[in-house]
Amino acid sequence: MSADLETIVAEIAAEMAAVPVARRGVPASYIPELAKVDPGRFGLAVVLADGQVHVAGDADEAFSIQSISKVFMLTLALGKIGDGLWARVGREPSGNAFNSIVQLEAEKGIPRNPFINAGALVVADVLLAGHAPREAIGEILQFVRYLADDDSIVVDRAVARSETETGFRNAALANYMRAFGTITHAPELTLGVYFHVCALAMSCRQLALAGRFLALDGRHPGGRGRVVSAERARRIAALMLTCGHYDGSGDFAFRVGIPGKSGVGGGILAVVPGVASVAVWSPGLNAVGNSTLGAAALEQLARRTGWSVF
Ligand code: DON
Repeated sequence: MSADLETIVAEIAAEMAAVPVARRGVPASYIPELAKVDPGRFGLAVVLADGQVHVAGDADEAFSIQSISKVFMLTLALGKIGDGLWARVGREPSGNAFNSIVQLEAEKGIPRNPFINAGALVVADVLLAGHAPREAIGEILQFVRYLADDDSIVVDRAVARSETETGFRNAALANYMRAFGTITHAPELTLGVYFHVCALAMSCRQLALAGRFLALDGRHPGGRGRVVSAERARRIAALMLTCGHYDGSGDFAFRVGIPGKSGVGGGILAVVPGVASVAVWSPGLNAVGNSTLGAAALEQLARRTGWSVF
């Protein structure tokens, strides 16, 4: 099986490399620093439940994980306040853009789910409680390093600065939710945590390793006990499937059939429960802000391995 998987991963990377850059979608430019990334990059990393790793392409090049960080922030926030989190953020797909504000007014400032920007701002606000922003950012960074078992993971300060200077929509969301009381800190403090965590720079290999606990029923990959309970791991994966690709979540579930979380840096983390954690990266995005080739590569991987939650 693993020799086959090595071949499958290499074949998919070769097929993706053959796709002209013009057909890969457009890298995000609303965060100016992200527009500087080479749109020709492609990386793929598959980490099996037993620890075997298969990589291809630019799998060891760090990129901005952006909204994929929302999975790690949610995990940490649930560890802190448990299911009380669900009083402040919902669990339904939004059917709207990742940075949309429209539902907040009618829904009393409670975002639809923790994976849209509004929801992740609430999660960041939870993680900020009792801390200075720098401490909260440090705690999240340590958590991701612990998950990936890799202390070299850092926050890309240029990306964090770029988003701080241009994140007017996020500032609007945070201020609006502050008025409802779903955000409890000064909005600029909550935004500071959120922007820096979105700016985590990780390679496909690091990301797949960090996501492995979700494929292992919540256990730490290094045999170091549990990150979360098996039930919580299942629930986080369920949210990834229903909400992880914003208004493209239905299409991703239809085509790939595996829980996944995308980021506007062009990365996707996908988790096959009990089997594997997969990370893919290609900066060109489709109309709803998800990696075009990333989804295509995962669709091929699911088809050729038979991996699916259905
Ligand atoms: O807040 C933002 O707009 C970005 N830091 C993250 C958005 C994102 O990654 C959406 N994903 N596809």
